[in-house]
Amino acid sequence: MSHAEDHEGTRRDFLYYATAGAGAVTAGAAVWPLVNQMNPSADVQALSSIRVDVSGVEVGTQISVKFLGKPVFIRRRTQEEIDEARAVELADLIDQDDRNANKPGLDASDENRAMDEAGEWLVMMGVCTHLGCVPLGDGAGEFNGWFCPCHGSHYDTSGRIRKGPAPENLPVPVAEFVDETTLKLG
Ligand code: FES
Repeated sequence: MSHAEDHEGTRRDFLYYATAGAGAVTAGAAVWPLVNQMNPSADVQALSSIRVDVSGVEVGTQISVKFLGKPVFIRRRTQEEIDEARAVELADLIDQDDRNANKPGLDASDENRAMDEAGEWLVMMGVCTHLGCVPLGDGAGEFNGWFCPCHGSHYDTSGRIRKGPAPENLPVPVAEFVDETTLKLG
């Protein structure tokens, strides 16, 4: 949820509160938590976690979903992409941290960044670690992964920064498969 949406939600709640409570409410801020609790809007409920059906994602394609106001790339990689990512030496990486919220502190090997052991699924925030543009995908850039056109950052097929001004690999958000085709974010 973006700040704008957040703000909108607050305003909606406030309007409800103002209408329902007009002339009767003198308790002021103390009433707020109760009002919010009684009217959880759909977007507030969805805030901390979403489920994504990935059954329609073909090998060699990706989808982009919005989570907490930011794009998340969910890519189902080809064997070629996986092999390419796994053939890279750690020493050749600019950022050697896995940037994986699910298993933090490991090295940036593709095995540590992919969702599954075979490496078919790669889930990452679609936000360039330089200044926050949304990188282009589907084999873009010199390393066949993602390319950020804003200032020319090249990410490989594991979403690791390989060339350009971005300092870090694309982060892997908290995510897990709850069944074969459902990915839970958050
Ligand atoms: S924001 Fe991506 S390269 Fe600058």
